[in-house]
Amino acid sequence: MTTGREWWRTAVIYQIYPRSFADADGDGIGDLKGITSRLPALAELGVDAVWLSPFFLSPQRDAGYDVADYTRVDPLFGTMRDFDQLLEAAHALDLRVIVDMVPNHTSSDHKWFREALASPPRSAERDRYIFRDGKGPGGDRPPNNWQSVFGGSMWDRLTGEDGLPEQWYLHIFDSSQPDLNWENPWVRERFKDVLRFWLDRGVDGFRVDVAHGMIKQAGLPDYRPPKSGASMGGEADDPPYWGQDGVHEIWREWHELLAEYPGDRVLCAEAWVGPLTKMALWVRPDEMHQAFNFDYMFAGWSAKDQRRVIDESIAAFSAVGAPATWVLSNHDVIRHASRLALGADSPQGDGIGPTSKGKPDPVVGLRRARAASALMLALPGGAYLYQGEELGLPEVIELPDAARQDPTWFRTKGEKYGRDGCRVPIPWEASAPAYGFSPTGAAWLPQPEEWAVYARDRQEGVTGSTLALYEDALRLRRTRRLGAGAVEWLPEFARSSTVVAFSNRDVTVVANLGMRSVTLPEGRVLLESAPTTIGANGKRMLPADATAWLG
Ligand code: NOJ
Repeated sequence: MTTGREWWRTAVIYQIYPRSFADADGDGIGDLKGITSRLPALAELGVDAVWLSPFFLSPQRDAGYDVADYTRVDPLFGTMRDFDQLLEAAHALDLRVIVDMVPNHTSSDHKWFREALASPPRSAERDRYIFRDGKGPGGDRPPNNWQSVFGGSMWDRLTGEDGLPEQWYLHIFDSSQPDLNWENPWVRERFKDVLRFWLDRGVDGFRVDVAHGMIKQAGLPDYRPPKSGASMGGEADDPPYWGQDGVHEIWREWHELLAEYPGDRVLCAEAWVGPLTKMALWVRPDEMHQAFNFDYMFAGWSAKDQRRVIDESIAAFSAVGAPATWVLSNHDVIRHASRLALGADSPQGDGIGPTSKGKPDPVVGLRRARAASALMLALPGGAYLYQGEELGLPEVIELPDAARQDPTWFRTKGEKYGRDGCRVPIPWEASAPAYGFSPTGAAWLPQPEEWAVYARDRQEGVTGSTLALYEDALRLRRTRRLGAGAVEWLPEFARSSTVVAFSNRDVTVVANLGMRSVTLPEGRVLLESAPTTIGANGKRMLPADATAWLG
């Protein structure tokens, strides 16, 4: 654990997706006890904190991002006692614990929504959510033309007890995820109670889901997106449901609330807003502490794009006194061991499946992923890892249609594969049932037959394995204090079309994104994502799609 004040400024935070991390009870869905049993492996890996995706009471229509009670553990994942034990075990291992807060919407099973449905239009209960009358004769048309991120309209219509059509309610995501009305002080107060509940239990902070969606433009005007369907945001102009200024007041209130607690608790925004200078407004000193850097995640695999996004990130975040953050994968995007080998755009949520055009080459993908991760872990600031990337896991492309569970798949009628391919339970032991994920061999999404090679036990202590690369990078990052360092571009490569090269403290980092080997500067190799060689000129060479650290 990074000690001292503001530990998060340099921390590496590991995302656990509870359904797919470790299953102790053998039902095929990961759980809290499973996580606790595997925490020592994460401490060995060398991360500072874990972020847990939602494990709260939920009908699981969006894998737990549809919360029916924010202060209860879903029996699928265990009990509150299991959570307390997890927290205690993590803290004993010097790992901090961040939980996921989902304030933009609840599940339609939430008591607040059920009470709203049972109350008349324009009642206080309805005002907790975004209910509107429809347009046109009989109110038959939705209140506006907004399209759900998961496909289809953002509005669903109620049917009254008399069987007649009634008001409409807004849901940016699935119809089972009604949006809350954050203009309503009642909603704000309830969430403060929820935050206190978890802070009192001892959590170290919150990752805030859809933090850019909570305030909608007054009047809910129609919006025509640049391409068909909705996206998670980040386009040049913000739609009326993303990135509205009103959200900042909420973060200031949350910031103050966290500051009442000892121990540097942290807020991290999931906010798909662009450009980075706008994103940085979210992490001003009295707002959130961190925000995911999605511009970095989706930067092209070219020296120019990488240098640009690194420069822009550091400039934008440091202008407001916040650390830059870096992230390459999460539970919503194609794993970077596949994404980096895809030529075309691969937007959040689209996914990739058996009939997708242009499949990624797994060898190229893994080489690039290792090079990208080695580059990322040398950068100053905070970094986020997604479970399984330390094993080099690729996206699972060949999932049978019948196994798919992402609402995106259903709401787009199979047009978008969605996110199941990055959520397949991870392999721990090559020869155990479900590769050690669950004692019975059950897994909620089928694991590919060829995954034994990625199992953790196959990589432990193996020089050159992806796991060893991450362990070495994390150890060096810590001992050389790279998280608190600075990027200084090496002048000889500053305009290179293939090489990204900088020094951070006493470490020189060289990434070769081109097709040919390049000569490395002088220095002892501390880390290499692919074997360096000695060239005909007697100098050390870095192969294509590889990163080396010298010192
Ligand atoms: C972002 C989460 O990361 C994603 O998994 C979820 O579907 C949406 N928010 C809705 O909560």
